[in-house]
Amino acid sequence: MGEKEQEVEIIRLLKAGAGYTSGQSLSASLGVSRTAVWKHIEALRKMGYAIEASPSKGYRLLEARPFNGVELQTLLSGKLFGREVHFFDSIDSTNAKAFELAREGAPEGTIVVAETQTRGKGRIGRKWESPAGMNLYLSVILRPKVAPQGAQGLTFVAAVAAAEAVSASGVKPAVKWPNDILIGGRKTAGILLEMDSEPDRVHFVVAGIGVNLNARRDMFPEYIKDTATSLFEETGSSIDRGLFTARLLSSMERWYGVYLSEGFVPVLEAWKGSFRTVGKPVKVTFFDRTIEGICAGVDSDGALLLEREGRLERIISGDVEAL
Ligand code: BTN
Repeated sequence: MGEKEQEVEIIRLLKAGAGYTSGQSLSASLGVSRTAVWKHIEALRKMGYAIEASPSKGYRLLEARPFNGVELQTLLSGKLFGREVHFFDSIDSTNAKAFELAREGAPEGTIVVAETQTRGKGRIGRKWESPAGMNLYLSVILRPKVAPQGAQGLTFVAAVAAAEAVSASGVKPAVKWPNDILIGGRKTAGILLEMDSEPDRVHFVVAGIGVNLNARRDMFPEYIKDTATSLFEETGSSIDRGLFTARLLSSMERWYGVYLSEGFVPVLEAWKGSFRTVGKPVKVTFFDRTIEGICAGVDSDGALLLEREGRLERIISGDVEAL
């Protein structure tokens, strides 16, 4: 068997095996050393196969298909979102790359996806943990013909789409204002919108979405262990990243269409369907202070309404935590 055939055989054996296949049985089936098996596993991972290695149990294929640009292109063909796919094994940030591509004139619907990000960006200057081989790091270029204030609605478009894609995996998510996706109170997805505009016109928006799909809780760094989760942790099954991405983009394309043709109201109504903080005590953190109150809902612009000391306060940015 040549090197390539051995790799094909490993994938075939991993697909056939329920659960883990030991390194020993792979090396016996292929007639090669366990070190050679390991080298093949590394090569297959570089091609985009998500293969989990456990020192005691062996190897396990987390997704039936590899996660790479070719697979994504196949899954997304014919759609506006994904008409151009830029896939990177490793990049600083898909948002930063999408921003650069948009500046160079990349069309609406261009997507940037990476296996891993070395400087994944979160909201409010935070970092987004982006390990390889398990999650989704995606940015979409949008060119809506709206004024900059109107573009804020896109954050809700992305949140509704992400919540729909998560629901389709069999768990009921909640949205945390304005655009985190939680399962059982823990964060599974985050959204970061970045915009290039002039005072009355948006040039483009980059909608960045990070979703913890197959990450295991024991892999989370200490500072997010109690507050983050993944779809694998919540459903007990591994998630096919290609299919998840296709579902998310198709949902986002539909809600983006609704936003452009019917405006923000139906998007906000859909978002409210997963917003379960109304009536609950919350803490809102701004860069320089923290306030507490009761969440009274959101207004027609999507601003958070906070009841505090007998008055309603309108919050347009900040980090909200349930108390
Ligand atoms: C947040 O909740 O703080 C927002 C997280 C957004 C993370 C995504 S991952 C893909 C895209 N590229 C980035 O650098 N950030 C966003």
